[in-house]
Amino acid sequence: MKYYFHIFGCQMNEADAEVLAGFLVSMGYSRAESESEADIILLITCCVREHAESRVYGKLGELARLKQLKPSLVVGISGCMPQQADVAESLRVKFPYLDLIFGTHNLPDFPRLLEEAQAHGGQVLEVVEEGEVRENLPRVRQIGLKAWVSIMYGCNNYCTYCIVPYVRGRERSRLPEAILAEIRELTEQGCLEVTLLGQNVNSYGRGLAPQLRVDFADLLAAVDKVPGMQRVRFMTSHPRDFSDKLIETVFNSSSVCEHFHLPVQSGSNQVLARMNRGYTRETYLELVHKLRAAIPHAAITTDIIVGFPGETEQDFSETLDLVREVAFDSVFAFAYSARSGTPAADFAPQLPKAEKSLRLKQLIDTANAIALVRNQKLADKVVEVLVEGPSKTNPDRLTGRTRTNKLVHLDSEPDLVGKLLDVRITRVQTFSMLGERTGVER
Ligand code: SAH
Ligand code: SF4
Ligand code: F3S
Repeated sequence: MKYYFHIFGCQMNEADAEVLAGFLVSMGYSRAESESEADIILLITCCVREHAESRVYGKLGELARLKQLKPSLVVGISGCMPQQADVAESLRVKFPYLDLIFGTHNLPDFPRLLEEAQAHGGQVLEVVEEGEVRENLPRVRQIGLKAWVSIMYGCNNYCTYCIVPYVRGRERSRLPEAILAEIRELTEQGCLEVTLLGQNVNSYGRGLAPQLRVDFADLLAAVDKVPGMQRVRFMTSHPRDFSDKLIETVFNSSSVCEHFHLPVQSGSNQVLARMNRGYTRETYLELVHKLRAAIPHAAITTDIIVGFPGETEQDFSETLDLVREVAFDSVFAFAYSARSGTPAADFAPQLPKAEKSLRLKQLIDTANAIALVRNQKLADKVVEVLVEGPSKTNPDRLTGRTRTNKLVHLDSEPDLVGKLLDVRITRVQTFSMLGERTGVER
């Protein structure tokens, strides 16, 4: 018996997929190479923007045909979409061939739900409201050079555009010892880089027993001391909760990389307030200045939403100004997508699609020009690169990343994968660079 997954969305879903695979393997299943040889297909879905959902609906349409050809096939859907009760119900009605519909908090119940679906042949739907942090669930993990480790789940921020708090539940932190044990185990299996993951890592530790007295900076300092872990990254930092202690910790650590992903979302105070972000343009800029003063070569990247309800031309131009002022290393830009159930979906006026696309293009053009200028600062410099493997586009090349998370291509040589090398940057582009090794191995 074989399983096949379609995974959409963020690392939270990747992590959930590892647990679902763990359950299936413990039940005697193995991974199918393709959909056609699978006995069970699971869609692990995302609903952060409409585009993510459209991809899921497209896939569901295709699966109808496969199910017709092979009626014994079990098709299930989980992840963030069905965690919304109304969406789960509409999936059940619209796609009668779905055998199994369950939410993100039902992960531990999966073996029972699958058994029920197989036993009674009808549709099984179960969505519970809240989940706990659960350790020790079975897990299938491909250990490579890099790994993601969730340090917390959920989010309490309720930014007015965002569906995540509704589909991932309230914020809850894992115990530090569980996180550290996982990271130690990863290093023993050859992993060299870890990214600590949470919707807002800066609020890590809130809600843990007070006698633990652990915050994100403490956790990061402890991870920095794990022998053998060469690089430590973290995502995402909320600009509101970024403490001076955290800046100091990054400065004083050896493996924590000099890269800060600090989603700003907008450069206009009016928009930021209506987004419920809890900081202003001025406090954001102050934070950037503090970071750059402490760690001048740090990379700063961001997420921005254009076309939030009521965003004026003036608001948008303030965003462009902020992008120029900060000079981000890269910007993940999104057109606002109304999510039913979030406050902003009912804000007025909603902007026309064409206007949002126009602003998106302007933002991307501005950000790309700046990214190129930022990268040019590295021309002819020697940087540390962790070689990750062959380039996807050119097998004669290897790719790796700098500590600041920039992509570097270099000529292929045997036995370099997994090495930290000194590389001289020879050519610079917007999204990547070319380099040559200086001959010195670290
Ligand atoms: N917890 C992280 C990431 C959340 S989702 C954070 O707080 O930054 C990743 C990004 O998707 C967000 O930063 C935001 O820029 C974007 N996003 C979230 N909801 C959106 C929506 N309704 N429309 C467009 N972009 C959205
Ligand atoms: Fe969404 Fe805001 Fe939470 Fe990020 S911090 S997940 S954008 S609600
Ligand atoms: Fe992630 Fe999408 Fe859910 S971004 S948390 S998979 S809504």
